Amino acid sequence: MTSVIKVNLPQQSYEIAIASGGLDKLGEYMASLKLGTKVLVVSNPTVFQHYGEEALNSIKSAGFDVTTCILPDGESYKNLESIEKIYNAALENRLERSSTMVALGGGVIGDMTGFAAATWLRGINFVQVPTTLLAMVDSSIGGKTGVNHPKGKNLIGAFYQPQFVLIDPEVLQTLPVREFRAGMAEVIKYGVIWDAKFFAEMEASPRLDEMNCISPELLNTILMSSCQAKADVVGKDEREAGLRAILNYGHTIGHAVESLTGYTQVIHGEAVGIGMVAAGHIAAELRMWTLEDTQRQNALIAKTGLPTKLPNGLNIEAIIDSLQLDKKVKAGKVRFVLPTQMGVVTVTDQVSGDAIRKVLQAMGN
Ligand code: NAD
Ligand code: GLY
Repeated sequence: MTSVIKVNLPQQSYEIAIASGGLDKLGEYMASLKLGTKVLVVSNPTVFQHYGEEALNSIKSAGFDVTTCILPDGESYKNLESIEKIYNAALENRLERSSTMVALGGGVIGDMTGFAAATWLRGINFVQVPTTLLAMVDSSIGGKTGVNHPKGKNLIGAFYQPQFVLIDPEVLQTLPVREFRAGMAEVIKYGVIWDAKFFAEMEASPRLDEMNCISPELLNTILMSSCQAKADVVGKDEREAGLRAILNYGHTIGHAVESLTGYTQVIHGEAVGIGMVAAGHIAAELRMWTLEDTQRQNALIAKTGLPTKLPNGLNIEAIIDSLQLDKKVKAGKVRFVLPTQMGVVTVTDQVSGDAIRKVLQAMGN
């Protein structure tokens, strides 16, 4: 069965198809989009060894002329050097304006392929085939593309929407459990910021810590509700003029934790989970959110097996200092997304350093 969610945008609307076993039909889906004949599949060795052949066969069978660009695996390769490799492959294979780049991988491959597609020949077609849970529910949707600068994450980039997103949940079978849990942080985020009913559905599941402990029905709900939430928010505010900022729930403290631990000790989703715990406690401290809902959120995060405490040895003053470097700082004031009730958040810059300090001290190990 295929479920379709539409991302409605003024310039370019597109569909997200969620289809178990859908990778096999990637070429068919692409053929229905009336794309040019040349296709460049961008991936990494980890993902390509599992799914490369199936994706290439499907694209070829649909009549496309397909080549590949395989980049090294990891966030440390999310840089302009990798983009140059994609450009070189595009040049060698004579990609044209009507050609298509396909991102087959997690958020790192998706963000880089999108940026290369946005800039090659001033913009060519782009299809997302996300293979991590995080990429399925978050990074493949909404058009944020880019790479890291040596001095900061995602500093170079463009808003550039894909023509199509294909989610095949079967590929999650090979995803390491740590990456699955990291994706669950973004999933829980949607429950807290947008969809209280979805939050309660996850609460009802006895386990959430491994994919194979989740019922197929709940996995479908997780993908559908998360993608719908992201599509709703992006459809209302594509360029983050206002509402889209709520997607950064948990990311303020999260980014600080991620960067201070070198992006490897604590991975993005884990840092977001820690950041959501901190934001929930800050909201409770400011009497904006009930203690009961704070505890419900934290219990759900803990049920996925994600950390809910700060990593050992992380200096709290260093976290507070690094908040000033956050992309969300406006006029020197740190902006926090804070919950007010389950499914509803607000953005505020009225959080004192003392309130942050008190919460972080309580979250230390
Ligand atoms: P990732 O892309 O690094 O993937 C994690 C690991 O899982 C990698 O080693 C990858 O090779 C492996 N992998 C991927 N799919 C697999 C599969 N099916 N089976 C086995 N292994 C698999 O990490 P991620 O969490 O997907 O993405 C993180 C990136 O996404 C960050 O760079 C972050 O900045 C970005 N991001 C972007 C947005 C956005 O809106 N554009 C949103 C959130 C995060
Ligand atoms: N992941 C945040 C956003 O897409 O805006």
